[in-house]
Amino acid sequence: MVVEPKVKGFICTTAHPVGCKKNVQNQICYTKENGEIKGPKKVLVIGASTGYGLASRITAAFAMNAATIGVMFEKEATGKRTATPGFYNTKAFDEAAKEAGLYTKSINGDAFSAEIKKEVIDTIKKDLGQVDMVVYSLAAPRRTMADGTVFSSSLKTVGEPFTQKNWNFKDNSIGEGTIGSATEEEIAGTIKVMGGEDWMDWIDALVENDAIASDAVTIAYSYIGPKLTYPVYHEGTIGMAKKHLKESADAITKKQAQKGIKAYVSVNKALVTQASAAIPVVPLYLSVLYKVMKEKDIHEGCIEQMNRLFKDKMFGGDAIEVMEDGMIHVDDWEMREDVQSEVMDIWEKISSENLLELADVDGYWNDFYNMFGFKLADVDYSADVEV
Ligand code: NAI
Repeated sequence: MVVEPKVKGFICTTAHPVGCKKNVQNQICYTKENGEIKGPKKVLVIGASTGYGLASRITAAFAMNAATIGVMFEKEATGKRTATPGFYNTKAFDEAAKEAGLYTKSINGDAFSAEIKKEVIDTIKKDLGQVDMVVYSLAAPRRTMADGTVFSSSLKTVGEPFTQKNWNFKDNSIGEGTIGSATEEEIAGTIKVMGGEDWMDWIDALVENDAIASDAVTIAYSYIGPKLTYPVYHEGTIGMAKKHLKESADAITKKQAQKGIKAYVSVNKALVTQASAAIPVVPLYLSVLYKVMKEKDIHEGCIEQMNRLFKDKMFGGDAIEVMEDGMIHVDDWEMREDVQSEVMDIWEKISSENLLELADVDGYWNDFYNMFGFKLADVDYSADVEV
């Protein structure tokens, strides 16, 4: 069938299999051109099918020549419904890795569950013995516990509601967006889903089953951003979960000191993903940020970020580059003073009249469509494809 994008508000309900494959190939191409990285050789990536996790897996495989096991939660196609982008991405990754002679195994299921943890550990024991790196890159809306209790994550403020400039996608106008404040239950739920508890469970399970090497490293991703977005992010419900993630990293390192396993948090750059498109205020910040960073020729996507993380910050030098706050920072270019002061200048001035001139509206939408395999160069979108 011919697959077309079906965008409803801030989500796209279709994905293009050939476009997704092209997207993965482009990331592999970039990684190979960027050169080899001497790093871990057996890497488990939890949340490996889209965004930062997929880029981490591609970098591990195609720059570090690592065997990879990926875990993801994706839907296959049914009838006329296409699969989710992560499903096609994973298929494309597996094909490319096999072609390159690299070990790859992808496990599609709920990473929070004991069954999937067991399946992964059994696979490691059987095929690799142990892993020497674990990337934890889950972004999930909810978590089901062993007893059936479901926790949900929410994107709200902690304290007062927050109102800021907001980009109205329907008519490209600038208005105001308000984010409501979370209840105690919503704060606790977000920490349960997006905090570090499940990450700790994974490392405990791997250690108990002798499926992780001594001196292995594990990393999870966080975001801080500018003061402007603090109420919705850093000081909001998700920020509380990220605080828990950092505390979990410290707890893992302490608990596993004897085995020499070290846990890190990397603070990454803000990028267009399915989740960020849904938060008021954030898309406008992103499109202004893209404009400024592209003009300075320092704009990066997930794959550039993960290559720089592994190459320059983690495995390129004598030691992993941890900053004063105890975290690795690949948000360093986003947070550069000249970048942020230009973003804030534009923020003050931006309106419905000058949006197209002052923000990178096309760049924003291009990234959005690319996530679902659309608007990629050299893909024939009029052709019939197998979904
Ligand atoms: P994403 O939505 O692109 O990827 C999420 C991954 O998690 C996918 O592979 C998905 O299949 C998997 N997943 C979700 N629920 C699952 C479950 N129950 N079981 C197994 N797999 C599951 O997200 P993105 O943006 O790459 O985020 C990854 C991490 O990076 C998150 O911790 C996020 O907070 C962080 N981050 C994101 C930034 C951004 O601007 N997008 C900036 C800085 C950090």
